[in-house]
Amino acid sequence: MRLQCVVKNKIDWDAELTTSSKNPFPLAPRDLQDRGLVTPENYRVQNRRLTRFCTQTMMSELKVVVAGTRMQIAGFGIGRDVQQWLPRAVREFGCSVDILDTSEVACENARRFLRYHGLVRRVKVAHADVEEYWSVGEVPEVVFIGQGFIQTQDDTTKDRMLGYLGTSLPEDGVVYLLHARGEDNPRSRVRWGKSTPYTDTEIRAPLEEGAGGQVVMQVLGKHQYYHQKYTLLRIGRA
Ligand SMILES: C[S@@+](CC[C@H](N)C(=O)[O-])C[C@H]1O[C@@H](n2cnc3c(N)ncnc32)[C@H](O)[C@@H]1O
Repeated sequence: MRLQCVVKNKIDWDAELTTSSKNPFPLAPRDLQDRGLVTPENYRVQNRRLTRFCTQTMMSELKVVVAGTRMQIAGFGIGRDVQQWLPRAVREFGCSVDILDTSEVACENARRFLRYHGLVRRVKVAHADVEEYWSVGEVPEVVFIGQGFIQTQDDTTKDRMLGYLGTSLPEDGVVYLLHARGEDNPRSRVRWGKSTPYTDTEIRAPLEEGAGGQVVMQVLGKHQYYHQKYTLLRIGRA
């Protein structure tokens, strides 16, 4: 299983997520970094605004979850999109949460975050590929897929992952997907490096193939991160 994960994950996430002189602004848009347009100040502001958008949207979603709901976070990265609502999901809404990430740096970020919030015993961090879980039907009631996860998978992997989710998502299960849709991010405006801004159709087709029927993709909100536009989608069975 480890071999599969090393071969498939062509991006060196440990390097991408580590702040260094070569990578002063992890996960900031590469095209703007190349043009010298990312500064410490705008990076801080943009990440804070992203966190606020996710917090506001997810807090209103959590109001209807049932205590004990099982939740997976697919890819922690640097945790910008979960850092405020996740502790509240556990403490206030009684969710049981697993964080999955193939990067040891991301897992260490997650462990540090959990230590800070006193949640080490309540939230599991698995240094694992999401497909190890999804391919054998281990899809809980809620899966949160944050910024940059699906768009950095190659086409085949993206289709396979979404297919597993379509097949195994529980009847009333929900996938939250924060994604840069192709429709909102024309290549004339955003020069994507290792990402592919998959369109609605490219997201929907493998989900529906896996589900064997229609899925509903509801737009919960849109957010501008630098020049990129992200949509937070709520996906469930029709
Ligand atoms: C773009 S980063 C996520 C950033 C995060 N949403 C944030 O805002 O900080 C993508 C993360 O997903 C992880 N990842 C990519 N493919 C994965 C897979 N198949 N299984 C588990 N984690 C994966 C990477 O290691 C990386 O930490």
